Amino acid sequence: MKVLVIGGAGYIGSHMVKLLGQQGCSVTTLDDLSSGHRDAVLCGEFVQGNFGDRAVLDAVLAKGFDAVMHFASFIQVGESVQQPDKYYRNNVSYTLALLDAMRAHGVDKFIFSSTAATFGEPQYTPIDERHPQQPINPYGRTKLMVEQALADYDRAYGFKSVCLRYFNAAGADPEGQLGERHDPETHLIPLVLQAASGRRANISVFGRDYDTPDGTCIRDYIHINDLCSAHWLALQSLLQGQGSQRYNLGNGNGFSVQEVIDTAEQVTGRKIAVVNAPRRAGDPARLVADATQARQQLGWQPQYADLATIIAHAWQWEQMASLCSP
Ligand SMILES: NC(=O)c1ccc[n+]([C@@H]2O[C@H](COP(=O)([O-])OP(=O)(O)OC[C@H]3O[C@@H](n4cnc5c(N)ncnc54)[C@H](O)[C@@H]3O)[C@@H](O)[C@H]2O)c1
Repeated sequence: MKVLVIGGAGYIGSHMVKLLGQQGCSVTTLDDLSSGHRDAVLCGEFVQGNFGDRAVLDAVLAKGFDAVMHFASFIQVGESVQQPDKYYRNNVSYTLALLDAMRAHGVDKFIFSSTAATFGEPQYTPIDERHPQQPINPYGRTKLMVEQALADYDRAYGFKSVCLRYFNAAGADPEGQLGERHDPETHLIPLVLQAASGRRANISVFGRDYDTPDGTCIRDYIHINDLCSAHWLALQSLLQGQGSQRYNLGNGNGFSVQEVIDTAEQVTGRKIAVVNAPRRAGDPARLVADATQARQQLGWQPQYADLATIIAHAWQWEQMASLCSP
């Protein structure tokens, strides 16, 4: 099976490329390395280029693919508020151009990285697929626009897609070959572990007065390999002729910021310095996925739902990264 992975040099995409290689697929990665890393692409062919460039896409798609997995986008919520043009261009315009190019080359199976940010402020939790989608920032809106375009493309052109709405991707390759390397890093677990390894002086906790048991925000952390196994199952479902689908992906267990810090201290055996800061605008108290539909329809079963295991894998990666950092 031939799969094109766009954004395969990034955090989630690189783990997916590794899994596809292990499954015996012929994989091509297209990535402009704007935030990805060439050495994270462990197998297959690598093409450096912007997926918004039609000439690049035509050259790559001419190789012929059974499906495309699309991880490439800009991902920082705060930056999307400051520079919405950058986000609408990369995440929406370029993605529409990609869909056009795929159709021109006769590729009509597509897996799209969507996000919990398409839901906005939760009206109830856990959040299932019926929850209204009312994003509260440009990043979430760009992802929802693509989801809506994909639904229209299916109705009009029979273009089949699976949108996977991740909650908080976390952890690292259990074999230690890959991990999270965002710059700047904005995700809680790597930031907490950087504080544990000494690469960062402390970790800020934004708000301790939320309506949660310990007052800190609750999020749903899903292990990166569990995310990738859901993509693999989604790919199988598309190839078997199942229709387009949207699935929420989380492990269904919410953990508070304080629980993450406490668990990280246990896993690392280190004391982590904490600074208390005011709430951030737009941070809901609780974001937890109801992934029942993915479990029932795809047969998806997360293997690493335990927070300590997720953090242990991320810690293995952080220890290597801290050895290599100046
Ligand atoms: N990390 C999370 O917790 C999370 C949660 C929800 C959704 N997502 C979505 O998952 C996807 C992957 O996230 P990630 O954390 O791996 O991000 P990442 O920044 O690590 O990876 C994105 C990759 O896309 C590449 N890229 C970006 N724009 C490109 C372009 N125009 N042309 C070619 N390559 C381009 C980057 O170089 C990078 O390698 C994103 O679409 C993101 O919105 C991530």
